Amino acid sequence: VAIPLKELFKDFFPIGAAVTPQQADPGTNHGVALQKHFSSITAENVMKPDALQRNKGFYTWEGADRIVQFAKSNNMKVRGHTLTWHSQTPDWMFYDQDGALLSKEIAMEQLKEHITTVVTRYKDDVYAWDVVNEALFDWDPNGVIVYREDSPWYKIFGESYIDSAFVFAHRADPNAKLFYNDYNSIFSWKRNKIYDLVKRLKDNNIPIHGVGLQGHWMVETSEQDIRTTLDLFRGLGVEIQITELDLPVYLSNTEPGSTVYTDTFSFRQKQAYSMIFNVLLDYSDIITGVTFWGIGDDHTWLDQPGRKAFPFLLDEELKPKPVYFEVQKLV
Ligand code: XIL
Repeated sequence: VAIPLKELFKDFFPIGAAVTPQQADPGTNHGVALQKHFSSITAENVMKPDALQRNKGFYTWEGADRIVQFAKSNNMKVRGHTLTWHSQTPDWMFYDQDGALLSKEIAMEQLKEHITTVVTRYKDDVYAWDVVNEALFDWDPNGVIVYREDSPWYKIFGESYIDSAFVFAHRADPNAKLFYNDYNSIFSWKRNKIYDLVKRLKDNNIPIHGVGLQGHWMVETSEQDIRTTLDLFRGLGVEIQITELDLPVYLSNTEPGSTVYTDTFSFRQKQAYSMIFNVLLDYSDIITGVTFWGIGDDHTWLDQPGRKAFPFLLDEELKPKPVYFEVQKLV
């Protein structure tokens, strides 16, 4: 019999899920699964800049408020995602009416206003924020290109907006845990850049408390890569959270439409998830949260026409899959 995930991991870390506002409703199957299994919740989209402030000065709180209310009435933590990102951010934060990049002064004022307003509204409700998401360039093994230079934030400011964003968030809620969040963060080319960035911020007394490893992992994910990354970040004295965990059944080099789903694939998913949770339990002294990027296999950003991902521990009806029981065995 399945033990609810939040019970299973209660001595180790909160277990979270990313949700839509519609799912955060006790009258739906999703709401019931959330109440049963999860002790933390994150907005999949509705706390992003383009959702909260699509037009300058006009905030839309409805969806985000619904998620926060659901969490409060069910005794769940809320992880805020995300304050500063190049994607899902309205154009007015970057460009003027002629499409030219804004001046540093104007862009900084707007960023400050956005972060202050959002963090203040959810002060005491959101315990941790992804303050900056995906600022680093994803490839370049030689580390020459450090930042994502096509980000409008980078084009306007260089790297300094990162420091500013953390300062604004900390001023608005000194109790919130502030995270830098990124993907591919267990690969050497990326983890070293994250390390350098966080080290620089800490050396400059910028308030940063943790690193979010998104955890969009694959059946081929290497245990050594995860362990090496956790060991490296342990040395920084920051918390680690797995913020967007999902792991498709297919192999990473297959194209949409080409996948035949067989036991071989779900077997590899079972092996990968057991390996991952085994490692996370080993590092539970520095891991302060694990969030899946969805609830069950019925709803995931990974699904494409011709290829479903089945990336979670709960199936399309939100019932525990065989992989769930593999993970349960570890505890
Ligand atoms: C994704 C959402 O899941 C999708 O619904 C949306 O269309 C695009 O964004 N990294 C992140 C998340 O930090 O915000 C992204 O979420 C997935 C990749």
